[in-house]
Amino acid sequence: MKKSPEQLRSHRWFDGEDLRAFGHRSRAKQMGYADEDFAGKPIIGIINTWSDLTTCHSHFRTRAEEVKRGVWQAGGFPVELPAMPVNETFMKPSPMMYRNFLAMETEELLRSQPIDGVVLMGGCDKTTPGLLMGATSMNLPAIYLPAGPMLRGNWNGQVLGSGSDVWKYWAEKRAGRISDCEWSEMEDGIARSPGHCMTMGTASTMTSIAETLGMTLPGASSIPAVDANHSRMASACGRRIVEMVWDDLKPSDILDLAAFENAITADMAIGGSTNAIIHLVALAGRVGIKLDLKTFDDISQRTPMIANLRPSGEYLMEDFYYAGGLKALLKQIADFLNLDCVTVSGATIGDNIQTARVCKPEVIRALDNPVSTKGGTAILYGNLAPNGAVIKPTAAETRLLQHAGPAVVFKNFQDMMDRVDGDDLVVDEKSVLVLQNAGPVGGPGMPEWGMLPIPKKLLKKGVRDMVRISDARMSGTAYGACVLHVAPESFIGGPLAFVRDGDFIELDVANRKLDLRVNDDEMARRRAQWRPEPPRYERGFGALYGAHVTQADQGCDFDFLHAGAATSEPEIH
Ligand code: FES
Repeated sequence: MKKSPEQLRSHRWFDGEDLRAFGHRSRAKQMGYADEDFAGKPIIGIINTWSDLTTCHSHFRTRAEEVKRGVWQAGGFPVELPAMPVNETFMKPSPMMYRNFLAMETEELLRSQPIDGVVLMGGCDKTTPGLLMGATSMNLPAIYLPAGPMLRGNWNGQVLGSGSDVWKYWAEKRAGRISDCEWSEMEDGIARSPGHCMTMGTASTMTSIAETLGMTLPGASSIPAVDANHSRMASACGRRIVEMVWDDLKPSDILDLAAFENAITADMAIGGSTNAIIHLVALAGRVGIKLDLKTFDDISQRTPMIANLRPSGEYLMEDFYYAGGLKALLKQIADFLNLDCVTVSGATIGDNIQTARVCKPEVIRALDNPVSTKGGTAILYGNLAPNGAVIKPTAAETRLLQHAGPAVVFKNFQDMMDRVDGDDLVVDEKSVLVLQNAGPVGGPGMPEWGMLPIPKKLLKKGVRDMVRISDARMSGTAYGACVLHVAPESFIGGPLAFVRDGDFIELDVANRKLDLRVNDDEMARRRAQWRPEPPRYERGFGALYGAHVTQADQGCDFDFLHAGAATSEPEIH
C-alpha cells in the first residue's frame, strides 16, 4: 500500500496554515523553488561526504547532481546535506574515531529536518558503516550510493594496487632495493582517478557488504568511480529512493539476521578486510542483532574464497567489474546465501543476481577452483585475548600460522617507531612483535597500526613476514601474520598490557588459540602492579569518545547508540 502525500514525514513541516508551516514554505521559496517543486512531494536528503581532503569522493559533487536529476525525474524534491567527510588518508589520530561521529551526524541530520528518504553517499572506508549505522538508527527509507573504486594503479608497466603495493614496495625501499626515483614514480601512478582504494581493502569490502545486505542497487558496488555507468547508477538511486518512500521500504525491512549472514558470507568469499568484522557487529547492534565473533569464524570455515583480488589474490576492483562484479560473485555462491532477503531494489537478492554471470573466471573463480577453500578470517581466543582476536590467514605466510616465539614488546606506536629499526633491537625471525596501547581507547581510535613493520635488520636478511600482535586494526589492503583487535585492549588493562620482552607467545590458527605462556601467579602479580595511563582526552569529542566507545568485539560503537528505546521525532513548533 502506497503512502499518500499527507502521510509523508515532511508533511508535518510543510502543511497547514500556522506560522511554522508558513516559515518552512517561505524559506524553501527563498531558494527560488515554487509550490510545484516541493508541495506534496517526498523530500529526499542526499547525504554527501564530499570534501577537498576526502580524495576518494572527489567526484561526489557531480554525482550529487546526478542523484538530484533522478529524484526530480521521479517526482521528489532533492536536498543535499553535507556530512562529516571521514577520510582514511588525512584524518588523525585515526578516522575510526570519527565513524561514530558520522553515524550520529547522519541520524540527527535526518531526524531534525523534514526528510522522507535518503541517499547516502560514501565509499572511503569508515563512511560506509558510519552512514549506514546512522540511517539504520533513524530508519527512514535509505539507499546507499557507493563511490566506486578508482582505476588500477600503473607504474613502469606494472599494475599497482592501493595500499598493498605501497606496503610491499616500502619494505623493498627500506631494504634498499627500490631507488628514491622509482619510489617517486610510484607516487605519481598509484592513485590515478577519483574513487576509493581499488584493492579488496576496507572500502571495497564495505561497499560489497552494503550491496549484499541489500542497501545498494544491484551491482552498484563494483562500478568504477569514473565509469559512465556510475553516473547512471547515481541517477537511478535518485529515482528509486522516491519509490521507496511511497512504498515505505525502510532499513528495518531489509537488515535482518539472514541479511547479515549473507554479508558475512560475501565478506569471506571476497577475502574481505578484517575491519568488516567491527563494522558489521556495530551495524547489527543498531537493529538489535548481536553478532558473535564466532559467527564470522563459522561462516569463514564453510565459505570458499573465490575473488582473486589483492591483497589475498592477484587482481584489482576494475578487473572484478569486468569479470561480472559482485553480482556474478554472489551468483557463484548462491547456495551459501539466503536468497529471499529483500533489497532496496524492491526485489530479493536472489532476483537481483538471477542473470549475472562470470566473464573472467581467473578473477572470480569457480567454487571448485577457489583461491582458498575457506574464508579469510579466523577468530582466536586464549589467555592473551579472552574476548577474541582476529587474523586473516589468507594474507599471511602459511609457515607462521602455527608458531611460538619470544615477545618483543613496544609499549606504544612511538616506542615502536623509535626502536624497531635499531641495530640493538634483540629480535630474530622467530620473535613475536607486540604493540600495546593501540586499541579503541588507547590508540585512540584503534589505528591501522596492526601490520607492525618488520625490523630493518630482518628485512635485509630477506624476512618479509613474522607474527605480530596488537589491539590495533590493520588496513584492509595490508597483509602478514598479524593478530589484530585483541580484546580487551591493553590500555584498559587487558592481558596484552602484561606481556614482557622474552615471554613466549603461541599462535595456533588451526586450533584458534592465542596464548601467553606465563603462569597465572605471574600474570596476577603483573596485573596488580599495572597502573592505567590518564585518559587520552579531557575535553571535546575525544572525551566523549573515550568514555563511551566499546571494545572491538562489540563493534566500537558508542554504548548509548546501540538499539534500544526509540528516539522520538522532534516536535514542530
Ligand atoms: Fe579512501 Fe582507501 S583512502 S578508500
